[in-house]
Amino acid sequence: MLKTILVTGGCGFIGSHFIRLLTSDGGCRVLNLDKLTYAGNLENLADVEGRNYCFVRGDIADRGLVERILGEEKPWAVVNFAAESHVDRSILDSSPFIQTNIQGVHALLEALRKHPVERFLQISTDEVYGDREGQEPSEEESVLVPSSPYAASKAAADLLCLSYCRTYGLPILITRSSNNYGSYQFPEKLLPLVLRNALAGMKLPLYGDGGQVRDWLHVEDNCRAIHAVLNDGVTGSIYNIGTGEERTNLDVIRTLCAVLAEHAGTKPGTFEQNIQFVADRPGHDRRYALNTKKIRRDIKWSPGISFAQGLDDTVRWYREHGDWITRVTSGEYRNYYDSVYKRRWQGSA
Ligand code: NAD
Ligand code: DAU
Repeated sequence: MLKTILVTGGCGFIGSHFIRLLTSDGGCRVLNLDKLTYAGNLENLADVEGRNYCFVRGDIADRGLVERILGEEKPWAVVNFAAESHVDRSILDSSPFIQTNIQGVHALLEALRKHPVERFLQISTDEVYGDREGQEPSEEESVLVPSSPYAASKAAADLLCLSYCRTYGLPILITRSSNNYGSYQFPEKLLPLVLRNALAGMKLPLYGDGGQVRDWLHVEDNCRAIHAVLNDGVTGSIYNIGTGEERTNLDVIRTLCAVLAEHAGTKPGTFEQNIQFVADRPGHDRRYALNTKKIRRDIKWSPGISFAQGLDDTVRWYREHGDWITRVTSGEYRNYYDSVYKRRWQGSA
């Protein structure tokens, strides 16, 4: 009989890529539990319909629902992508972050005590380590010093997971990855927001001086790493996932503009001239950097998609999916965009 894997938050950016990977070889049955917030989109998974895949609309914080699914479906593993994931939104209003990222994870853990599975993988982030400016890259044992309400809620979830592993013996795994990019990413995050604005002939907002440093990981590389950790990771362990390549936001956006100009067949500076420095994000971390020796050594994972290739593919995808961009940026997105950017264009955070 095929193993069942319960994926939560599978209609979002990374979760939808992970479900595509899981369903690509018919090796398992996938249940996707997603609340369909502004970030969740059934369209992201239209191509996996009919491949041993089943969607359930619901909230991970609804313990009764989660218990029912676990009791009836008896999955082999649960992989939790469900989260409020955007730092700027957590600065505007942290309540949904506490509700889903902490209470939701707590509900999942309690349900798992009643209906045990073989593996529970919590998808976490490099943001839990806080700002690494002037420091060595974070190791899995580094202290957690989250800066934003988003990062704090993810750190709280990690600590809850580890406590349930130690106290109740739950088979916990945690991955902490760097910034992902690729197709189907909601245009509130840096790369898709800049792509969307550039394609619409709008200004491209860079916070502060654009000198913040991030490690950009292609979403398909992250999904391969998560899959490998799910199968081969040692329970009770945390695995950092990243490329080890550090880039400033300004470099990334300049490169993105150059790739866009190439695709559009326009003069090299066409898009770059629209970069505009705006007021910085409050509490903005200057640098994230991960030490990824553990996953490379113990799981034999390494990234396979170069930044140049990944960016090229991403630009092509957004250029070819104007309808998708229009659909996901209608309605609620406009209010969000105005509430974050109106003030920033005018120079205040
Ligand atoms: P996303 O915002 O694109 O998607 C989140 C998904 O979770 C959506 O489909 C949404 O509907 C669903 N969801 C939200 N609240 C829910 C709830 N209460 N119950 C059920 N479903 C709910 O997020 P993403 O960028 O794909 O990130 C996925 C995970 O990876 C998150 O846990 C995030 O913290 C983590 N992460 C993201 C990145 C990144 O660069 N995007 C990097 C590291 C870690
Ligand atoms: O590092 C992992 C994290 O990456 C994940 O845990 C989060 O879920 C994910 O949202 C992402 O967080 P960031 O805050 O790093 O991503 P974002 O795309 O919002 O911003 C990337 C960098 O670009 C950051 O330094 C802020 C900057 N930025 C962002 C936006 C949206 C700008 O300069 N201008 C912008 O308009």
